[in-house]
Order: sequence, then structure tokens, then C-alpha cells
Amino acid sequence: MTVAPWPIAELHVHIEGTLETELLVTLARRNNVPLPSYNPDELRELYRFTDLQSFLDIYYANLAVLRTEDDFYDLAMAYLVRAAGAGVRRAEIFFDPQTHLANGIPLSVVFGGLTRALRDARRDLGISADLILCFLRHLGGAAALETLDAAVPFLDQFIGVGLDSAEVGFPPSLFTEVFARAGALGLHRVAHAGEEGGPDYVQEALDLLGAERIDHGIRAIEDPRLVQVLRDRRIPLTVCPFSNVSLRATPTLAEHPLPALIEAGLLVTISSDDPAYFGGYVDDNLTGIEREFGLDPHQMATLARNSFLAAFVPEAEKRRYIAAVDEHLEGLLRLISGA
Ligand code: ADE
Ligand code: ZN
Repeated sequence: MTVAPWPIAELHVHIEGTLETELLVTLARRNNVPLPSYNPDELRELYRFTDLQSFLDIYYANLAVLRTEDDFYDLAMAYLVRAAGAGVRRAEIFFDPQTHLANGIPLSVVFGGLTRALRDARRDLGISADLILCFLRHLGGAAALETLDAAVPFLDQFIGVGLDSAEVGFPPSLFTEVFARAGALGLHRVAHAGEEGGPDYVQEALDLLGAERIDHGIRAIEDPRLVQVLRDRRIPLTVCPFSNVSLRATPTLAEHPLPALIEAGLLVTISSDDPAYFGGYVDDNLTGIEREFGLDPHQMATLARNSFLAAFVPEAEKRRYIAAVDEHLEGLLRLISGA
């Protein structure tokens, strides 16, 4: 028996991390970009990571295949089709403009392709999606400021800013000015923190960047006072279990701090991060944790509701999505009881 996936908001996915090896090969051939292999399975075999940096090295190298507006369109559309099948009703999608700028691709090309895909997906798939522009922390605060300035002409094409890439050694404090400027422009603010970095990075992201959500945030569990702040302020954590296992932020899924984060009363959501690299999309992550931790339908419904509560959409829209979660839960309970 196949059961429909939970209606969900995907709040932590990097569009560049959805580049499946099949599309990677297609784009490499289209643009004459060399790859270590042209066999998608062989390329996937190379995805054995020891930490965040070992992943980032391959991930950034692969992005050399993205050259034209159509490449960005095809990347985003492939994700959105897959996401719609995973139950995603709302997606807030990260992208890394600095990587593409460094490859010689103008922002107009990046925005052109991504925005067109988002618009078509809304029309054809009924999926609501927006972009969040991420700064690469390894390039520092001045480069982030330059990037934000360059993106101002495209302000109507993204809803917020984020902070990603290598974490340790690049604390949120380096990005105080660019986040303040983004806030003054009316943009939402989120930041990766507490993935490999300690709970102090999470605290800084809240205090210095005004982060409204924390991406990952799993190491917050090490600091009870921080946990209390996150709980009291209802700060969402966008947790990506398969990513954390793949990058060895946690040794195994069984040892993932997810149950402790839930138990602590935090507003946890589940996401896929870079699904083409970490073995699954958001629906796979959800079924993975359901099985691993024996979560019941009520606990799964809470995670699905959380995702919409944490989304950057108007309250009325949240209520409609949450009604869909409640309906899904009722259907599931009826199925289980055989009624
Ligand atoms: N960029 C893409 N995926 C990332 C992750 N998991 N952490 C930091 N930066 C990233
Ligand atoms: Zn991420």
C-alpha cells in the first residue's frame, strides 16, 4: 500500500544541491565542461564524504556545468517536479550567487532561469516557491556586502538572505553588517549555524544577525540555556537528518539529536539540504526518521505543521496548509484503524 506523502514546506534546500548526476552529465555535455566521468552512477560513487568541506569541494566543482539561463531553469524545474511528488506545497530555496559569479555567470542569468522555473512551477505544479540568497561564509563579510549590493536590482526576485558554506572559523559575527543591511531592505534573515560549529555560533546568529530561523542548529542541544532561548522565542530549526549523517555531523541516524530537540519542545522542521548528494529528498528524510525513531502519525503531523508555521508566508496561507496536514492525519488514522 502506498500512502501519499505528508504536505510539507521545504525550508532548507540548496538548489545547487539538487543537481542529480544525470542532469550534471547532460549539462556538462551541453556546455563542454569536463567531468571525472560521464557515467551518472560512477559520479555518484564519488559522493563519500568525511565532513562538510569534503562535500563542498565536489559540490562547488560540479557547479561549473551551469552556464546559461536554461541550465538554471532545468535545474530548478527538475527539483520542483521531484518536490511536488514529495508532498512539498511550499519551498524556500537557497541559492549561492557568489559561486556562479566566480564562474563568470551574471546574476541576471541566475535569477532569469530560477525565477522562470519558480513561476512555471506555481502555474503547472501548484507549488509555491521563493528564493533565499545565501552568502558564502568562506569568502567573508566584504564579499557578502558586494553581493548584496549587486543583487539589489533583483530585490523582487528573492525574499531573504542566508549564510552557508564552511562554518568553523567563519562565525556569524563576520556578517553583522550585511545582515543589518538585508534587514533594512525588508528581507528575511536565516543562517546555517550549529551544523559543525558549536552552540555559540547559533547564539551569535540570533544576537548579531537577527536570524529568524536557524538552518541545522543541531549542536544547540549542547547548551541548555540556548535551548531555552530557542524554545521561548519559537525559533525554528531546519534539521536535515540525511545531510547530518552523510557529512558526519552525527555518526549514525540512530544517534541523531532529533528526538532530543523535539523532546526539548523546539520548533523543528525536516528538510533535505542537498538531496542529490545525501541520498534523499524531504519525503525520504521524513520516512527515514519515522522508521528510525518510531514516530507516530501525530508526531509526524507536528513536524509537517511546524514546517508551515516556520514558512515565510502570510498567516491565512499557513492556516490553509495546516488544514491540509490535519486532513492528511485524519485520513492516515482512518486507514490505520481500518475504518
Ligand atoms: N551549502 C550547501 N549545503 C551546505 C551545508 N550543509 N552546510 C553549509 N553550506 C552548504
Ligand atoms: Zn544547508
